[in-house]
Amino acid sequence: ALLAVRTEIGDCTRCKLHTLGRTQVVFGAGNPNARLMFVGEAPGRDEDLQGVPFIGRAGQLLTKIIEAIELKREDVYIANVIKCRPPENRNPEPDEVATCEPFLFQQIDVIKPTVIVALGTFAARALLRSLEPISKLRGRVFDYRGSKLIPTFHPAYLLRNPSSKREVWEDMKLVKTLLN
Ligand code: URA
Repeated sequence: ALLAVRTEIGDCTRCKLHTLGRTQVVFGAGNPNARLMFVGEAPGRDEDLQGVPFIGRAGQLLTKIIEAIELKREDVYIANVIKCRPPENRNPEPDEVATCEPFLFQQIDVIKPTVIVALGTFAARALLRSLEPISKLRGRVFDYRGSKLIPTFHPAYLLRNPSSKREVWEDMKLVKTLLN
């Protein structure tokens, strides 16, 4: 079923990002039976080149965050709200989010994870339809399409603000509790 969604996206030309320098669609990666799913914003440079989400510096930190709750990357599923790299990693624009987010919703509906972690403002806002800042949303548990959703800070934000790792650790302990 995930393969069907991937095939549907294929060489997607639905939004303007396909004309703005993307190398490829970055669909998602990991275990299709995952009980834990991470949702980021959009592919960056490394992800665009390799076709895999979260493999650059932020991705390496995400891998450590996953390992901190005694899981491996292969155990979880990782995707983004936007499947193509915005030029110079600018923020996704509303029309791009609106065009692309149905594919994320399909991924969630196929995987049916127990817990979804929304990484950063864009993922939290797209999923929760909320305009609150991530600092207000994080650390709380939301019911979302049959899953529990926990927003937390984006690993790229943690690279710039290492002191916020403490809050992410609290959020991940909550994730672990919900999974057990
Ligand atoms: N940042 C994201 O939000 N997603 C990625 O895949 C990489 C970096």
